[in-house]
Amino acid sequence: MKKKTIHILSIESSCDDTGAAVLENNRVLSNIIAGQKIHAAYGGVVPELASRAHQQNIVPVVDQALKKAGIDKTQLQAIAFTQGPGLMGSLLVGTSFAKSMSIALEIPLIPVNHMQAHVLAHFIDEEVQNSPPFPFLCMTISGGHTQILKITAYNEFEILGETIDDAVGEAFDKTAKLLGLPYPGGPLIDKYAKQGNPKAYTFSKPKTPKPLDFSFSGFKTAILYFLQKEQKKDPDFIKKNLNDICASVQHSIVNILMNKMKKAVEISGINHVAIAGGVSANSEIRSTLKSMENELGWTTYIPKFEYTTDNAAMIGIVGYFKYLKEDFGKEDTTATSRLDING
Ligand code: KG4
Ligand code: ZN
Repeated sequence: MKKKTIHILSIESSCDDTGAAVLENNRVLSNIIAGQKIHAAYGGVVPELASRAHQQNIVPVVDQALKKAGIDKTQLQAIAFTQGPGLMGSLLVGTSFAKSMSIALEIPLIPVNHMQAHVLAHFIDEEVQNSPPFPFLCMTISGGHTQILKITAYNEFEILGETIDDAVGEAFDKTAKLLGLPYPGGPLIDKYAKQGNPKAYTFSKPKTPKPLDFSFSGFKTAILYFLQKEQKKDPDFIKKNLNDICASVQHSIVNILMNKMKKAVEISGINHVAIAGGVSANSEIRSTLKSMENELGWTTYIPKFEYTTDNAAMIGIVGYFKYLKEDFGKEDTTATSRLDING
């Protein structure tokens, strides 16, 4: 039997990126993202400014997504949107827009969990991307989350470990801030690290009560003290050694992440290993994970670069799976700033 062709418009507005995508079944026809440069001046996302920027961006971003896909809104079968987790003001913009559009077009509304979307981004364009089989492990590493998950089906997620304080993206961004780099600093640390020595400085590994949990707040403080100590000896320490500091910090973080992943493989006995989320754009984590194929016999899954940081295509793929199960939202569906991975 020929598969019915479904067109879904998806909207992402959980933090500081306004995204809209059109999917034809599991295939992306367009994936538009408008970032918000305004936050760089503040050293982090300012929630009120983020909500206002979403209000400004959402209509042109959706328009562009439809135009690029060559799809008229009357051809859509459903509207998917990020329900949570995220910043309430930001989520409300996408939620209200999606709800109004679904009512106007008389088509289903599909609420999507942002964390599930990061993981299921691996199933976008399954014929082209290398998608994992079930069960697989996924380390979701982003600005708000750090989790190791066992995924047994499109809608079955088990948390094997997670951060007990800061997310790994925060460790990158806060270190960057200490180094005088603008927000978000993760990509800049990655860039400067390419020219530095990863073994120039060492930082002690954080300890956690549970073997698969993470902790990054102590790590961040250790870097602060290290920089203060070195700057006392030489006020230009950061300027002179920026590349080496970035390379060493990044290398330490990647080591922490990989050690946890190795433990998770040992404990679960599953060696299909994926990464997801904004930090999975990092070049060192991508190459180190890949090297585990030869070193430890894992099969690894690294998402296409454009599906790592926040984007609407990943919301659309979850929307598509939920559409097939007729798992729709209702008129009173609301945005939820805190949402569990299975929520
Ligand atoms: O998934 P994401 O776009 O948003 C959240 O849901 O949090 O992740 C954003 C995080 C930021 O902390 C950013 O600095 C980090 O991902 N990030 C990176 C890189 N690209 C983005 N961190 C390290 N290296 C990168 N190349
Ligand atoms: Zn995200």
